[in-house]
Amino acid sequence: MILSMLMEPEQAAQAAADATKAAEAATEAAKAAPPWETLSPWDTLPQASTFAEGTDALYLFIVGISVFFFLLVMAVQAYFMWKYRRLSEDQKTSSITHNGKIEFLWSAIPAVLLVVIFVWGEVDFLKQTVPPNDAVQVRVTGRQWFWTIEYPDYPGVQLTSSVDESQVTLMVPKGQPVQLTMTSEDVLHSFYIPAFRIKRDVVPGRYTTLWFEATQVGEFNLYCAEYCGDQHSAMIGKVKVLEPELFAAALADAGKLEQEPSESLAAFGERIYSRRGCNACHSLDGSPKTGPTWKGLWQKNETTDKGAVLVDDNYIKESILEPNAQIVNGFTGVKMPSYKGQLDDKHITALIEFMKTLK
Ligand code: CUA
Repeated sequence: MILSMLMEPEQAAQAAADATKAAEAATEAAKAAPPWETLSPWDTLPQASTFAEGTDALYLFIVGISVFFFLLVMAVQAYFMWKYRRLSEDQKTSSITHNGKIEFLWSAIPAVLLVVIFVWGEVDFLKQTVPPNDAVQVRVTGRQWFWTIEYPDYPGVQLTSSVDESQVTLMVPKGQPVQLTMTSEDVLHSFYIPAFRIKRDVVPGRYTTLWFEATQVGEFNLYCAEYCGDQHSAMIGKVKVLEPELFAAALADAGKLEQEPSESLAAFGERIYSRRGCNACHSLDGSPKTGPTWKGLWQKNETTDKGAVLVDDNYIKESILEPNAQIVNGFTGVKMPSYKGQLDDKHITALIEFMKTLK
């Protein structure tokens, strides 16, 4: 109000129009908000995986029989309190020994119910333990205090959540099984996606697995569910469930390698070296691995199966795109995949610049 008094009438009208527009945009944004943000605290969790219904049914069954027996015991107790109340000052308590039939029943009925709960739980547990063969593979690494997510079938894709940035972490396709192979670099963590009803410990020094199949497109919360240090509560992220067509595209996009504005070409090359898996076969310290070391490789005279060659731009580019063209003696090019289509000219130039620094 004060503001509009200080303004010219047209200005005030403009400001009011802007405010209306902003309010409309906010309403739109609220409409598009993900489901959990519009849920009331009393709503149940979305059932977003194939395990959700089974887990909920068993849980409801246990709650149901607990409530039933609680009410039964309380009612019988209240009735007996009334029925066997003391009627006169000199009344004596009658002598009771036991009742074999009732004692048998109050042991047998709970025993049968517990076996039902065990078998039901075990069947679901086995289903959740054995992943299907065609599952999309995902590697999860827990660290204090963030998750790193990698996809072996999409080299170079690395998604992380961190204390500073608790963004989307895990991208998965809808309607396809996804298997997580998880490990920790430091302490015990636990990977937990409530909407999928899955949780498993992430243990240092060994691998645990977990699988699920998401049934609805959307974003769901994921948590670390094991106290792992003072930033434990920041070890969170999102699971983004995408239509299968969009999933592949989104991962290809996430795996894109582009030079940062402040990054030198050689530094960009070093990043490609580790992100695209060159490091699996080519060392930087002179030791031979599956392929020749990159140390001192630039401008070196090599002997190949096609004769002598000087390692220059042309030879490196050829070796990246057609690994079998000229193989350095003592190595076999068969093991190296062609990077045609995965690395463009810019990437190759950056790799060459990086090699030049490895004297
Ligand atoms: Cu990691 Cu709690």
